Amino acid sequence: MTAPFDSSDLARFRAAVASHLGLQFEDARSNELAAVFERLCVASDGGAAAYLARLERARLRRRDLHALARQLTVGETYFFRNPDQLRAFAEAVLPERRAARASQAHHASQMSGPCVRILSAGCASGEEAYSLAIIARECGAPRGEVTITGVDVNAAALERAAEGRYSAWSLRETPADVRRRWFREVGRDYAVAPSIRAEVRFEERNLAAPEPDLWLSESYDVIFCRNVLMYLTPETVRAVVARMKQALAPGGYLFLGHADSLRELSQEFSLRNTHGTFYYQRTTAEACGPAGSIAPPRPSSRPPGGEWAETVRRSTERIRELSEQPAVRPSCPGPEPGSGSPLAESMALLARERFAGALECLDRLPEHEASAPDVLLVRAILLTHQGQLEAAERACSKLRAGGADSAGAHYLLALCREGVGDRTGALENDRVAAALDPGFAMPRLHLGLLARRSGDLRAAQRELGQALDLLAGEDAERIRLFGGGFTREALTRLCRAELRAAGGAR
Ligand SMILES: C[S@@+](CC[C@H](N)C(=O)[O-])C[C@H]1O[C@@H](n2cnc3c(N)ncnc32)[C@H](O)[C@@H]1O
Repeated sequence: MTAPFDSSDLARFRAAVASHLGLQFEDARSNELAAVFERLCVASDGGAAAYLARLERARLRRRDLHALARQLTVGETYFFRNPDQLRAFAEAVLPERRAARASQAHHASQMSGPCVRILSAGCASGEEAYSLAIIARECGAPRGEVTITGVDVNAAALERAAEGRYSAWSLRETPADVRRRWFREVGRDYAVAPSIRAEVRFEERNLAAPEPDLWLSESYDVIFCRNVLMYLTPETVRAVVARMKQALAPGGYLFLGHADSLRELSQEFSLRNTHGTFYYQRTTAEACGPAGSIAPPRPSSRPPGGEWAETVRRSTERIRELSEQPAVRPSCPGPEPGSGSPLAESMALLARERFAGALECLDRLPEHEASAPDVLLVRAILLTHQGQLEAAERACSKLRAGGADSAGAHYLLALCREGVGDRTGALENDRVAAALDPGFAMPRLHLGLLARRSGDLRAAQRELGQALDLLAGEDAERIRLFGGGFTREALTRLCRAELRAAGGAR
């Protein structure tokens, strides 16, 4: 069939699509665009001229918008897509936002309980929104505490989302136990459990339109807008980023897809890098909560993702790799053929609480290796365990002076300060550690213990409650390094017992 339009008609169609939906079609996708234009012209009374005249009105007919969205959007999605990001959400972001909302509700003496609000912008057929609801429940959030809104411009996709019934292909990345817990088999399909569906609602929304009631100021804790910006025009991306920024609560988080980037778009987000993935946090002056509440990380004076972040990331990874090496011999008189490096041997001994031997291993390292951030951190941990507090503080100071100012170093400093009777110094360092890394359970636990000992039961309840939440998602390697020989279960039991003793129920 001959195309009932010419190239200038197609240019007008492309411009109308960009203006109404914010979608961008580069030259490489011109054939795809032309095919859709042709189909829509044929379906429309009056051919290309009448159809274009309709599209070029300021307000589009609902039916035309639906047809455009159905034909031009890419709705590829599945449950538990990009698992690294979802782990960061489960283990770092969600515990922090739950704690922040709980602390706000507590301060405001709210009767209704805390509520964490999440937006899945460009949710397609709903898999992302339901995955987030499942994760929240798996993380222990009670019903109603975390609510998720999924929005999309494609009404047909939203109908499928609301139905909550999916093929096995949509669940291709869903772990079998999660599938068993939260889905019911219906013929060859899988239906999302009603208790999960109750946490999620879907709305037809156009990200390219102002939609003021969708973007109410500071209304979301976390926004997922993954694999959406890559389809939008630069102007639409700028507008959407600005809306997301103002709709995020101070300290709130934004997850984009791997192909999307905020680079040069907003100075008001800082890049976070945990769990092998990147995401963003809204950084504003108001984001710094009151002392003692869960505060987001202090905005770093160093460029996000710069040399400093890289050093910390590398050293953490190296420690993890070393600790995953096969166990080495228990004592460490000197290098043996086939044994690990002195640092690996030291880590293995640390795991067995053989602190003196572990320190001896580190002493064998040549000077230039001994001052590497990962070695200094392990040394500071061992010295703290050995009660050599002055030497431990010196190792922490060296770490910080070398630019590796980490939550771990501040937590160790807090233990050292407490050890020499400086309670104020201990509290300060714990708070800095918790602010630098809101997912770090140990400084919260320590703050709780300090508060209980001083008789401040309210603070003890708050801190121990947060520690309990964080412990559930705490990184196993970090527990091994900083847990003082306690397992996660033992720390959790300790935390619960202290919480009960402070008058808090759990
Ligand atoms: C590839 S899917 C992403 C689904 C999900 N976020 C994920 O990462 O798996 C992109 C979605 O963005 C939606 N979208 C594109 N332009 C939009 C707009 N202007 N307003 C709302 N949604 C839009 C599409 O309809 C589509 O469902």
